[in-house]
Amino acid sequence: MSKLKSIAELQALLSLAIEQTSFQEDPAELYQPISYILNLGGKRLRPALVLMATDIYGVDVEKALPQAIGIELFHNFTLMHDDIMDDAPLRRGKTTVHEKWGSNIAILSGDALFVKAYQSIVKVEAKHLPALTDLFNQTALEVCEGQQYDMNFETQDAVSMSAYLKMIKYKTAVLLACALQSGALIADASEQDQKHLYDFGIHIGLAFQLMDDILDVYGNQSEVGKQLAGDILCNKKTCLYIKAYEGANEEQLKVLDHYFAHQDFDAQEKISEVMKVYAELDVRSACRNMMDEHYNSAISHLNSVSVSDDRKSVLVQFAELLMERVS
Ligand code: IPE
Ligand code: IPE
Ligand code: MG
Ligand code: MG
Ligand code: MG
Repeated sequence: MSKLKSIAELQALLSLAIEQTSFQEDPAELYQPISYILNLGGKRLRPALVLMATDIYGVDVEKALPQAIGIELFHNFTLMHDDIMDDAPLRRGKTTVHEKWGSNIAILSGDALFVKAYQSIVKVEAKHLPALTDLFNQTALEVCEGQQYDMNFETQDAVSMSAYLKMIKYKTAVLLACALQSGALIADASEQDQKHLYDFGIHIGLAFQLMDDILDVYGNQSEVGKQLAGDILCNKKTCLYIKAYEGANEEQLKVLDHYFAHQDFDAQEKISEVMKVYAELDVRSACRNMMDEHYNSAISHLNSVSVSDDRKSVLVQFAELLMERVS
C-alpha cells in the first residue's frame, strides 16, 4: 500500500492541477472572472477531502483528481452567485466578481463555471461515473435548496435552530460530505465506509459553517477576506442570531427585532447594537460549543470507517485544523 500523503503534499498536487486547468480566452468577459476567482485561491478544502478519502484506501489519488477539481470548480461557482445574493463586496480579500464586472457577468460566468465542473467530473473512470454523477447531482440540488432557505430566512424573524441546521446542512455540509464520499467511491470502498465518511463530512461541514458564522462577526478582516459582519447587515439568520433570539430578554428582543426588520440603518450603528446583544448573551461561546459537539459526532463516524487509525490520522488532523481556523 502506498505511503499516505500529507495535507501539504495533497494541497501542492491540487494547486498544480488547478493552475493547469485552462480556460479559453474569448469572450474575455465570460472567462476572465473564472480565472480571477480561481486564482484568488481559497483553502481548497473540498478537493483535499476528495483526495484524502481516496488516499486512505491506498489508491492512487491521481484517479480522483478530476472529481476533486470538479468539486472545487462547483464550489467557486456557488461563491460567485452567493456573493451576488449576499451583496458581498469582498471575497478572498479582493473585490467580488459582480462588483468588478457587474451581476450579469457574474451570473453567466458562474453558469459557465458550473459546466466546467461537470466537464471535469465526467473525466473519472467510466465504471464510477453513474454513482458519482448521482451523488453530485443530488448534492448540487441540495446546495441550491440550502441557499434558498438561507434567503427565505432573511425575512423571517423566528427561525428555529433545527431549521437553521437543516439550512446549513444543505448549503454547506453536503458538499464536504459529497467530497469525502466521492473519494471513497473512487477507491471502491464499501458502501458502509462511504456512508460513514459522508456522515463525517456532514458533521465537519456543520461545524465548518458554524465557524463561518462566528468568523463573519468575530474574525479578522484581513484573514477572513470578507466584509466583517456582512451577515448582520443583510439580516442573515446565523447561529449567533438564533442563539441570541432564543436567550434574549424583552429589551434584547426589541433590539434584534428592530435591527433585523430592515436594511436601511447606519451600518456601524446596526452592527454595534446587535453585537452588544450577542456579547451580553455570550452567543459566541454557545456556538463554539455546538461546533465542538459536531466535531465529536464527526470523529465517531470516522472511528467506524474500516481503515487503520494510522491512515485515518490525516482526516483527524484536517478536521482539527478546520476547528481552529481563522480564515
Ligand atoms: C466559503 O467556503 C463558503 C462556505 C460554505 C462557508 P470556504 O471558506 O471554504 O471558502 P474558500 O474556498 O476557502 O475561499
Ligand atoms: C455560502 O454561505 C454557502 C454557499 C456558497 C453555497 P455563506 O454566504 O455564509 O458563505 P460566505 O460567508 O459568503 O463565504
Ligand atoms: Mg450566502
Ligand atoms: Mg455569502
Ligand atoms: Mg458566511
